[in-house]
Amino acid sequence: MPDYAFETLRIHAAYDPKDHGNAVSPPIYQSAAFDLENTARAKRLWTGAEVGGIYTRVGNPTVSILEERIAKLDGGSAAIGLASGMSAISYVILLLGEGGGNIVAASSLYGAAQESLLHFFPKFGITTQFVTDRHDPQAYEALIDDDTRAIYLESISNPNAEIYDIEAIAEAAHRHGVPVIVDNTVATPYLYQPFKHGADIIVYSATKGICGHGNAIAGLVVENGTFEYSRERFPHLHELSWKLRDIDDNPRSPIDADPHAPIITALRCFHLEFIGAKLSPFDAYQVLDGLSTLVERLDKQISSTARIAQHLSNHPHVAWVRYAGLAQSPFHSLAERDFSHGAGALLSFGFKGSDEQIDAFIQALDVFSYHVNIGDFRSLIANPTHTTHTELEQEVLESADIPSNILRLSIGLEHVDDLIADLDHAFQLAFNEPTKE
Ligand SMILES: Cc1ncc(COP(=O)(O)O)c(C=O)c1O
Repeated sequence: MPDYAFETLRIHAAYDPKDHGNAVSPPIYQSAAFDLENTARAKRLWTGAEVGGIYTRVGNPTVSILEERIAKLDGGSAAIGLASGMSAISYVILLLGEGGGNIVAASSLYGAAQESLLHFFPKFGITTQFVTDRHDPQAYEALIDDDTRAIYLESISNPNAEIYDIEAIAEAAHRHGVPVIVDNTVATPYLYQPFKHGADIIVYSATKGICGHGNAIAGLVVENGTFEYSRERFPHLHELSWKLRDIDDNPRSPIDADPHAPIITALRCFHLEFIGAKLSPFDAYQVLDGLSTLVERLDKQISSTARIAQHLSNHPHVAWVRYAGLAQSPFHSLAERDFSHGAGALLSFGFKGSDEQIDAFIQALDVFSYHVNIGDFRSLIANPTHTTHTELEQEVLESADIPSNILRLSIGLEHVDDLIADLDHAFQLAFNEPTKE
């Protein structure tokens, strides 16, 4: 496919109806396994000499369309679809950290990602050092040692909507031969393309803005195909494996098997094969459908988010607003530099009132829905310290800058006047002020 614009690729990339019975909409290949035809072909499929369906745990044609489309949108060499954003994150950490490496991570992350790095991966010998001064690229560099396997951060953080100078952080990481993993969930490939800023691996919860309809759980990993994984730091990526043998029965390492996609090769051959968190073809179809309208959804959601952020920042019951699109945000100039389509549809604010008033405020909202998703076409509110980030201990919340009065908004596609009126009405009820009704 020629070098079409993003708007064209998100609809057409990696799909030709002629290859799928002329179906205009990508078919859902609801089949556990695929006919191998003959033993010679089976050998070609198993050794990668021919690409084709074998068994849906390790690959499926509907899922492949999504994988190839996202790789194209991000400018990567390959991608893999997985059952959830968390499986995407966990697989990459398990692969890069294999044998007991360490990760250097920003100290403010999606709750389950932070919790897993803190308490779950150490059980497998993979530890994490968190960078408290997470906006200073040198602070990441200072924590890199001989066992560091990756730097991990989010391009727009959840729930604080912070953004980072990933270019400078990647430059520091690459000086030491360390790759950078970026969780690009909140930004999506429309707002931010991490590979253009030096990242090496992207992880997504496609459950969020990429799908945008709140009706599928999905994860994606994309790799850029240019990072050189050294034998010293990543011996396991150079280890010969009989499982990865070529058609002449020569064992190969993930790097030999595909020098431009060793990460996706290893994840598919080992992690997906043995742990099996596969993306279902039905969910892949839902994500493909959602991805087709990503641009229009986000353009409108961002324009509403900017208005709501402005409104809240002048509100007497709001202590502060975190949104890089606001001129007064400390991240505004970085957002202007790196986010040409806008700073996303996620913001957080500090509620100036008691815990009981927060409860009453959430209860009083009518248009905003109270549930833990983001990037949905519905507008959502969450109180992170009691929901999405509730597993984190107090000192972790403090270093992540997540106070108890923080409320997170994910702005959807309703009319912005209704959303602002809904928030104002809920404030009035929470503070026992006269309402306009
Ligand atoms: C930034 C971010 N990354 C990853 C995840 C995990 O995604 P999933 O729920 O699809 O496992 C989430 C979920 O909220 C998220 O917000």
